[in-house]
Amino acid sequence: MNTTFRQDLVVRPRRIRTDDWTRRMVAENRLSVDDFIWPVFLQEDNGTSEVPSMPGVKRYGPDCLIDAIAEAVELGIPAIALFPYNNPETKTEDCRESYNPDNLICQATRSIRKHYKEIALIGDVALDPYNSLGHDGIVKDGIILNDESVEILCRQALVQAEAGCDYVGPSDMMDGRIGAIRDTLDEAGYTYTKIMAYSAKYASGFYGPFRDAVGAKGALKGDKKTYQMDPANSEEALRLVENDLQQGADMVMVKPGIAYLDIIQRIKGTFGVPTMAYQVSGEYAMIKAASANGWLDHDTVMMESLMAFKRAGTDAVLSYFALDAARLLK
Ligand code: PBG
Repeated sequence: MNTTFRQDLVVRPRRIRTDDWTRRMVAENRLSVDDFIWPVFLQEDNGTSEVPSMPGVKRYGPDCLIDAIAEAVELGIPAIALFPYNNPETKTEDCRESYNPDNLICQATRSIRKHYKEIALIGDVALDPYNSLGHDGIVKDGIILNDESVEILCRQALVQAEAGCDYVGPSDMMDGRIGAIRDTLDEAGYTYTKIMAYSAKYASGFYGPFRDAVGAKGALKGDKKTYQMDPANSEEALRLVENDLQQGADMVMVKPGIAYLDIIQRIKGTFGVPTMAYQVSGEYAMIKAASANGWLDHDTVMMESLMAFKRAGTDAVLSYFALDAARLLK
């Protein structure tokens, strides 16, 4: 363009964006494979099955699990989070399958451990995949009972620790469960089994596809608003984190992710503790659906969304993109 107009500028912020090497040197955040926790769905039947609302995500049967984990190990993913799809006949109102030492999470943990030592295993502690009523706690007369649920959650956490989980991840949002689980683990000698507390977990519409994945959707009556947080609140998130830390949480989590980056930033800024985030199923599904339609570029948006977690102060992100992102970073 032929123009005589020239600003008399000393500061030209674009200078540091003109070339790739400068952009790389001044980048304030960087993603690495160490930032990712891969959520893995387990099923009882051999083979795999697809989760229709989560394209690219599979549930793994016992015969396919080890091969699936192999790639995660090879890529250097530090941890995987295990979630069960239980057949309907194992689901009861007392959720007893949750503390069966041979349940899907315990079996998978033992089998993965036999093959691999270099990846951390996180057991999900919550009752919804085991509950014929679809809630994360024991339901009586339509009420989600707190202390009765915590008793079951402790038994669930204990069988997971016994099976070899390195972490338990209570995602149930009952009051007092972190301290009760810590006591249970300590008394049984699992002093170094870590607790990744889902401290600020919101009652969110973004969990829809996950409930398909663990088969909890049909069962759930009503909503989870009496235990999961109101999306309107952030002061409450800080109180919950403080409470979980006092009860012995080793790391805390915010869930969902992208719509709650402000919460992550406040928690990190206030407490400075290891702060995880969960890029949940609905966030994954949105990116998949839009990119399948050609409306978004899949890899660009995937990496941009993961970088946003870093920028907000997240230490590691549970993401269904973990393997895709790790492959791209290689
Ligand atoms: C419940 C649980 C949920 C998720 C993880 N654990 C769903 C819920 O609270 O209803 C959601 C994860 C996702 O959407 O990816 N124990």
